[in-house]
Amino acid sequence: MTTTEPPSVTQFQELVVDPRRRHAEYATMVPRYYQLVGDIYQQAWGASQHFAPYRSGQSRAEAITALEHDLADRAGIAAGDRVLEVGSGVGGPACTVAARTGARVTGVDLVPGRVRAARRAARERGLDDRVSFHVADATRLPFTRAAFTAAYSFEALCHVPDKARAHAEVARVLHPGGVWSGYDWVRADSAGTSRVVETICRAHGVAALSTLDELHRDLMAAGFTDIHVSDARTLGDWEANWVLLEELLGLLPPPEQRQPVLGMMADGGRALCDGARSGEFLIGHWYARRPGRTA
Ligand SMILES: C[S@@+](CC[C@H](N)C(=O)[O-])C[C@H]1O[C@@H](n2cnc3c(N)ncnc32)[C@H](O)[C@@H]1O
Repeated sequence: MTTTEPPSVTQFQELVVDPRRRHAEYATMVPRYYQLVGDIYQQAWGASQHFAPYRSGQSRAEAITALEHDLADRAGIAAGDRVLEVGSGVGGPACTVAARTGARVTGVDLVPGRVRAARRAARERGLDDRVSFHVADATRLPFTRAAFTAAYSFEALCHVPDKARAHAEVARVLHPGGVWSGYDWVRADSAGTSRVVETICRAHGVAALSTLDELHRDLMAAGFTDIHVSDARTLGDWEANWVLLEELLGLLPPPEQRQPVLGMMADGGRALCDGARSGEFLIGHWYARRPGRTA
């Protein structure tokens, strides 16, 4: 199969059913996944493809933008900063952070088609002089030591099998004193063998979900300090995400008439809603700092 040929859902499902293959072959699995679902994601979610806590009366767009603004503000990102986004997708968060702060934002993503879409989004928003995107793996960042003053990620590390190495790479390219913060899909301590968590992983091209403790441990091992790791449910109401997801699932054709990719997405969406409500699936939040003095 060439890289331009779309994979079949069957090929993808043969790969993801085996957790060892999800780890060993993630660099094939993740691009295949986004080749299958990327256009549907973009239609459903737009350029920012993560969840967010809702405050009273907020639309989805407002809740998403508020979370991206909060992250930028809390990290103290300002004009002139050089900021890295890990797993930048089709560019929504990078554009919002750049527009909010005046910083230069560099996004990296494993999937070339998503990097091309992100570049288009930056051009359309008139931000391409300050926002750039590169094809790169979070575990092998193509940047020199201390190249960035801050770094962040929204719901991308879940795809990465060696999360400890991704955190260590960010520590390497972050300036002393720089903040590394973000959100990721995690699982409850008790959900190691959960059927719902396994369905989430298979249906979303995710190697495995960490626990909050493992996230904390990886940040420590990478040498970060001032580490705060939390269950993001403390930040607001996440239920609106699952209600919206269920509404979208309700628009799908009946199961017997669904294309296989929609069947897979329906299983995955159902598992996210069920897992979030049972507490087996969580959004984890972290904030940490590279030791040393800011520039
Ligand atoms: C759910 S999307 C989120 C995208 C973006 N952060 C957002 O919130 O809109 C996760 C992204 O992580 C990227 N990704 C997955 N594994 C990666 C890796 N090893 N290195 C870099 N990016 C990766 C995927 O290609 C995808 O674009």
